[in-house]
Amino acid sequence: MARRPIIAGNWKMNKSPDESVAFARELSPKIAAYSEVERVVAPTFLAMTAVASELKDSPVKVAAQDSHWQADGAYTSQVSAAMLKPFVDYVIIGHSECRAYLGESDENVNRKAKAILAEGLQPIIAVGESLAQYEAGETVPFVRFQVIAAQDGIAAADMARVVIAYEPIWAIGTGKSASGDLADDIIRTAVRATIAELHGDNTAESVRIQYGGSVKPGNMEEFLSQPNIDGALVGGASLDVEDFAALVEIAARVKGH
Ligand code: 13P
Repeated sequence: MARRPIIAGNWKMNKSPDESVAFARELSPKIAAYSEVERVVAPTFLAMTAVASELKDSPVKVAAQDSHWQADGAYTSQVSAAMLKPFVDYVIIGHSECRAYLGESDENVNRKAKAILAEGLQPIIAVGESLAQYEAGETVPFVRFQVIAAQDGIAAADMARVVIAYEPIWAIGTGKSASGDLADDIIRTAVRATIAELHGDNTAESVRIQYGGSVKPGNMEEFLSQPNIDGALVGGASLDVEDFAALVEIAARVKGH
């Protein structure tokens, strides 16, 4: 089954609302033609409504960088999936920066995924091992555990709306990316095979799995030419219009069906 490639720019804590809107305005026409690729930007919460409004007639979709699992209530600082629904199609959860700095747990990633799906949105669930785990040979069991925990209680029918982003922590923002072969091997054995065990082969074949970690135009083709890599979750390179447009163009060329 052909999976539609998905390139998502995670802007993290970068760009003011004005800068975010200006970026979206410049980016959108450059990548509008590549309909074979799903194109997504994830601005800061502060810029999200303005970017969503700027992109409302554009094929470029908007993602939030997090959401809470409750619809509303006494959760200071939080934003719910229900609140995000008018503005976004995707929500990134489980990012290693949230796990490391904000105490994001596997249990909460799972609660968030279920709430996002219940609102009709799509979670992009980030998983990935640390450098110490990688060097100790613990990558596959660790990532398997994260994948199992994230999808606990999610029905097979909903899994097709889930995107998993495999982001080895040692490759994020370091300029050190995994090789295409290594990333594909981990994605196949630790992510897709785990989904197959839980939900069957057909479901596993329908789930899109991204690679993330120092993705740039110069290495995009190496990742996307792998059979199990369906796109990229991009930090640094997504902050540059030309780089972002180049990533989308490469995805259309390599994976466009
Ligand atoms: P970089 O592309 O800057 O390494 O960031 C990857 C990432 O964390 C995307 O979520």
